Amino acid sequence: MALSGEERERYGRKLLRLTGRVDAGKLINTTINQDLSQVLDHLPARFVDLLFIDPPYNLTKDFGAASFEETSPEEYASWVSSWLPRLLPILKPTASVYICSDWRSSGAIQSIVEKHFVIQNRITWEREKGRGAKRNWKNCSEDIWFCTVSKDFFFNADAVRLKRRVIAPYRDARGKPKDWDQTQNGDFRLTCPSNLWTDLTVPFWSMPENTDHPTQKPEKLLAKVILASSREGDFVFDPFLGSGTTSVVARKLGRLYCGIELDTEYCCLAEKRLAMAEFDNAIQGYSDGVFWERNSLAYQNGNKRSRNIATDQVPLCLREERNRYAK
Ligand SMILES: C[S@@+](CC[C@H](N)C(=O)[O-])C[C@H]1O[C@@H](n2cnc3c(N)ncnc32)[C@H](O)[C@@H]1O
Repeated sequence: MALSGEERERYGRKLLRLTGRVDAGKLINTTINQDLSQVLDHLPARFVDLLFIDPPYNLTKDFGAASFEETSPEEYASWVSSWLPRLLPILKPTASVYICSDWRSSGAIQSIVEKHFVIQNRITWEREKGRGAKRNWKNCSEDIWFCTVSKDFFFNADAVRLKRRVIAPYRDARGKPKDWDQTQNGDFRLTCPSNLWTDLTVPFWSMPENTDHPTQKPEKLLAKVILASSREGDFVFDPFLGSGTTSVVARKLGRLYCGIELDTEYCCLAEKRLAMAEFDNAIQGYSDGVFWERNSLAYQNGNKRSRNIATDQVPLCLREERNRYAK
């Protein structure tokens, strides 16, 4: 997904820039195009139910307006400490917080979050893509620290179950499937969500959600986080929004959202994705209320979440994008 000059202008006009304190109503379903450090003091208290944080990792990376230089673990920890505690006042006492990291930054993140939150778990997800190394193990996993503000929090495990093909189809004494279902499309088991996620695919060029952002998270990853840790109508907040994945998935799943991103191009991409989400709320790998293993499209009964809106109802400016990926 790319932007034309006209789209840059149109979506650019929608972006918010805060110059003083605002109330939560002003932030509903918006993208703030500013440096996080300039915005933090203007945010209202206690409005966030779910905070998803995907900061730059401790790697040299070009994010357009916000390039990041690799530094020592101590300096990285000190950078995280310069903004993370300032996010505490915006959280409701029942809020959940997810913070992404890779193996290099995971230790620093843990040492900081354990000072401020109740750590509930560390999720590890397989990135699948990754460069092979001659003198090291290929790096293809990342961590997400799952924390809460208090011990009183919402978690819906049923909303994030994984549908797996049954490899060993055990039957009971009467010959009935044991904990699995026999269907026309094959034999499947619904499994409880674990803290090891191996069903994700990093957005690649032929996926509708793909943009030019260098570290875009998969929509399926955000769908797991949002479905497990928020209810419909809850407020989801992302202070490092990037290409907008958190807001887009929150919108598709009926949550309120707001994100902050320094780079204007990424903000406009986020707005374009949000406009597309109005007409197509499908999330690749999530359909019929369950998550599916990778490469299982052939077994899925069609994506029931897709709004299936007739092409002539989609604004002209978004039609070309939609047609490119029409199934
Ligand atoms: C790891 S990326 C987030 C990717 C995002 N989760 C997605 O799916 O596209 C981090 C983002 O934070 C932005 N960023 C870095 N420093 C920032 C700051 N001080 N204020 C606001 N945004 C910042 C970068 O431009 C980058 O897009």
